[in-house]
Amino acid sequence: MKVIAFNGSARKDGNTAALINLVFGELQKEGIETELFQLAGKKIHGCIACYKCFQNKDQRCSVTNDVLNECIEKMLEADGIILGSPTYFANVSTEIKALIDRAGLVAKANGEMFRRKVGAAVVAVRRAGAVFVFDAINHFFFISQMTVPGASYWNLGIGRDKGDVEADEEGVQTMKVMGENMAWLLKKLQE
Ligand SMILES: Cc1cc2nc3c(=O)[nH]c(=O)nc-3n(C[C@H](O)[C@H](O)[C@H](O)COP(=O)(O)O)c2cc1C
Repeated sequence: MKVIAFNGSARKDGNTAALINLVFGELQKEGIETELFQLAGKKIHGCIACYKCFQNKDQRCSVTNDVLNECIEKMLEADGIILGSPTYFANVSTEIKALIDRAGLVAKANGEMFRRKVGAAVVAVRRAGAVFVFDAINHFFFISQMTVPGASYWNLGIGRDKGDVEADEEGVQTMKVMGENMAWLLKKLQE
């Protein structure tokens, strides 16, 4: 079993990555393979609304000059998908929005290709707006017919500078509980 996580921060190895790694710790304890794919520095742009994915039906985006199709391949082979985003002006990062729009449309064009995979949001925030980010990511999971585990709080960690979230005790705890529940759910779905 495998979980792929996308870190949508423009800052590599920052707070979003630290939170994802806390979830990974719990998944790995249960023998689940994990992979972190950091979007920072990689080219990924928004949907151009060409709708060619509905004609081609080849599980790919027709725009091929960025990392989007590589992301889709990783999502398809995984049992669980984590979308991690920092809070940028009370919203998801541009990179995560591009991934949601394009992977989401390709999934619809190809008969709901992420259906019944497990999804989880991970959000880093300095002060406010994280619940909106959490909701935006969950909108993608739910409309993709995915299953989402709960946690002891909404999946967010508070911090500004790199590594600050590690001092947010409740955020750390939330990620661990979410990781435990994600592992539990993945195993139940495989029974
Ligand atoms: C462009 C930009 C916009 C931001 N907007 C918000 C915001 O609306 N609310 C907030 O609490 N923090 C905001 N922040 C702070 C980040 O969410 C915070 O530093 C977070 O921990 C960054 O995670 P990272 O280390 O994974 O990049 C913003 C940061 C940047 C760079």
